Amino acid sequence: MESKRRLNWFMLAVICPLITGAPPLLSQEEVKPCPTEGLSITGGSFVISHSHGTIVKYSCPEDFYPNFLTRKCLDGSWDPKTKKTAECKKVTCPNPRVFENGEVTPYKDRYYVNDTTNYTCNSDYVFRGSQYRVCKPNGKWSGSTPICGRNSDLCPDPGFPPGSHRTGNMFNIDDKVTYSCDNKLTLIGSKQRVCQEDGQWSGTEPQCYAEFTYDTPEEASQAFGNSLKTNLEIHKQHQEGKLVRLDQNGTLDIYIYVDVSDSIEEKDFTTAKDVIKKLIETISYYQVSPNYEIQMFATEVKEIVNMRNFKAVPAERNLGKISERLDAFSYETKGDRSGTNICQAFKTILESMGIEKINDKNFAQTQHVIIMFTDGDANMGGNPKPKVDEIKHLIADERKLGEYVSDIYIFGVGNDTNLDIDDLVTKRDGEKHFFKLPNLNDVQETFDQMIDEDSSNQLCGLQQNDPDNMRRAFPWLAQIKITRHPAGSNCMGSLVTPTYILTAAHCFRFGDTPEKITITLKKNMGIQAQQYISHPDYNVTAKRHLGIPEFYEFDIALIQLKEPVIMDLNVRPICIPCTKETSGSLKLSDRDGTCKKHKEILMNADIVNAAFKSDLGGKIGNKEIKIKQVSHCAVLFLQRDACVEDAKKALGMTATNAKDIVSDNFLCSGGTEPNTDHIACKGDSGGATFVVPGNRMVQVGIVSWGVKDMCKGSFKPLSVEDSRDYHTNLFSPAIYTFLKEYLGNGRLGTPLSFL
Ligand SMILES: *[C@@H]1O[C@H](CO)[C@@H](O)[C@H](O)[C@H]1NC(C)=O
Ligand SMILES: *[C@@H]1O[C@H](CO)[C@@H](O)[C@H](O)[C@H]1NC(C)=O
Ligand SMILES: *[C@@H]1O[C@H](CO)[C@@H](O)[C@H](O)[C@H]1NC(C)=O
Ligand SMILES: *[C@@H]1O[C@H](CO)[C@@H](O)[C@H](O)[C@H]1NC(C)=O
Ligand SMILES: *[C@@H]1O[C@H](CO)[C@@H](O)[C@H](O)[C@H]1NC(C)=O
Repeated sequence: MESKRRLNWFMLAVICPLITGAPPLLSQEEVKPCPTEGLSITGGSFVISHSHGTIVKYSCPEDFYPNFLTRKCLDGSWDPKTKKTAECKKVTCPNPRVFENGEVTPYKDRYYVNDTTNYTCNSDYVFRGSQYRVCKPNGKWSGSTPICGRNSDLCPDPGFPPGSHRTGNMFNIDDKVTYSCDNKLTLIGSKQRVCQEDGQWSGTEPQCYAEFTYDTPEEASQAFGNSLKTNLEIHKQHQEGKLVRLDQNGTLDIYIYVDVSDSIEEKDFTTAKDVIKKLIETISYYQVSPNYEIQMFATEVKEIVNMRNFKAVPAERNLGKISERLDAFSYETKGDRSGTNICQAFKTILESMGIEKINDKNFAQTQHVIIMFTDGDANMGGNPKPKVDEIKHLIADERKLGEYVSDIYIFGVGNDTNLDIDDLVTKRDGEKHFFKLPNLNDVQETFDQMIDEDSSNQLCGLQQNDPDNMRRAFPWLAQIKITRHPAGSNCMGSLVTPTYILTAAHCFRFGDTPEKITITLKKNMGIQAQQYISHPDYNVTAKRHLGIPEFYEFDIALIQLKEPVIMDLNVRPICIPCTKETSGSLKLSDRDGTCKKHKEILMNADIVNAAFKSDLGGKIGNKEIKIKQVSHCAVLFLQRDACVEDAKKALGMTATNAKDIVSDNFLCSGGTEPNTDHIACKGDSGGATFVVPGNRMVQVGIVSWGVKDMCKGSFKPLSVEDSRDYHTNLFSPAIYTFLKEYLGNGRLGTPLSFL
């Protein structure tokens, strides 16, 4: 099959110039109908589709595969022509007995799904990889290639991936090893690897794929996530343990190309558009703001947005706009869909890059990433490989050899993906750039999992509504208990980095020691406080002489944890304004993501809808409030004023100027205008007052104190006219400075990048 496909491309390459723009090659394929008998499949089922030519599609139950995936009606007979009837065969994994210098048990002819193998080395050899592997339903072994090697050469023994043959047994500088796969299997990865100066093998470890082998979303999300992250962080580097940008001008250009040829049906077309949106969303979580080109291709290439416009036209630099364009791009308008012209797609990318090379003065510092989705069945336009090589040259001209130049990823979508497209992707040690997934839903799931499972990049403000696990809706919430005699206190807090919890300063009293603080994030997660740090200007008694018995300005504290917490779906930080992480959550580019812009987006009205979490008798719930802001509209202006004025009604307060009690360092909620709010109770102190622009949660305040205790007999009291709550304002400069000093400092854990 491999040679047949190669021949195909070769022929197309020869006739490429003749057919460009001509009607697609195979449109007249069937004139005569095919016989309908003899099509059944033993152990499976089939459907006949007439949507684009007459095709029989076979399917089998799980752990089985059809010996033909499809048969096509060509000129009155079925192709492939065969006397054999179709049947469902058991999925096998590639031969693990190629393992050398050790023993495989059990030793069998064939290994089916759930079969296990154990590996041991002969004496004098050192083991690497997985000692125990299971054959998985996707036709792959679990874990990684087991290898018994001697550590005497520069490069490690590259081993024998299951199903492969290797020539070359020397592993020193410039030594080559060459791989091939068993009959009927296709080699994915590098056919040849060279031992490099740095003791690493060039290229990617080969894997032998059968026609039925595919990647699961778990495998793809992990491999794509790791590789993409390396890529996106390539223009950052570690300097004295701190993550800094290598070059402020360094940018990232991403080209997303999606195959919408005939083989993609209408329902898949909608999914394809969703996949693009999901991919852009996924990338936005990596704290980068790339430039995009997005195109759909079949016989021709149809533009959604091109790179030059994205960079040069401010109105085009808008991810919302891309979404709209995608929605407007309909199945009907996608032009001639009968061809799959991968060559033309790469030609278009080459042209776009050529334009950038001339127009973008930072081209040499730009990281180029190409992400393509296709079934790989190029039926016109010729072999894309020369275009891919031209792209590499175009960029390589600008660089010193050996640096990262560009990355090409291809998602082969569909069971009959042509595995030859693996030839086009980037090959790099420890990375994977080609993925074969059975359908677009699995591609989408891949991106979902990247977002969910990427614990290391600590995306802030993420939430999930999972009825079986309420915690996921507020994974940053910390419940804090301070033990004292006779009476301790309870507070709320919010996880803001892996090592810091933000809360109110008034939760602590003189003499409280870290051992007296109990913090609960998720159940059974033991975490300990190292110390707590209150704002240096917090002083409850500072204004007693003015008739303010308790003064709560700068009511903010950080609890530093002994060990950083490990993030997962139940434990993640909330977003803090004026940080780059929050710019990412607001989908702002580096250029647009200023502190001022954050305030405009988050506090964008005279009355801002916000909320905080409360323990409503053993169950965590929302309390909803409206923050009253200073307004230039006369009536609303009074709302913040009235809110602040009521501070004078607090118990024991004799101060005459409300602004002495409540400065601009507070946000104000409560009262009955324009609606009633929920009122905070004692245990709510220190909790995050948050807003949810889009789907990420951003903290704007800290619950501090209130005028009236409304909580007798109710966990969730409603406000009366003069019951007001005050929240420490995270946008206030004195608060920002405090947060930045501790959270933006690289000495400890993973710091936030303050703007
Ligand atoms: C393999 O194991 C899984 C989990 O135990 C089971 O659900 C599945 O049916 C097994 N498949 C085969 C072919 O034995
Ligand atoms: C293979 O290894 C597993 C786990 O180490 C062990 O439980 C099992 O007994 C071993 N099987 C054989 C056949 O040696
Ligand atoms: C970055 O861009 C600015 C303005 O475009 C230019 O002045 C500066 O020299 C560039 N820096 C580098 C390292 O290329
Ligand atoms: C692809 O294969 C998977 C697993 O065998 C099967 O569930 C799916 O229906 C197939 N998809 C198509 C489009 O044939
Ligand atoms: C708090 O303010 C009062 C009144 O100004 C002052 O006497 C006291 O020393 C202050 N306490 C601290 C810890 O700064």
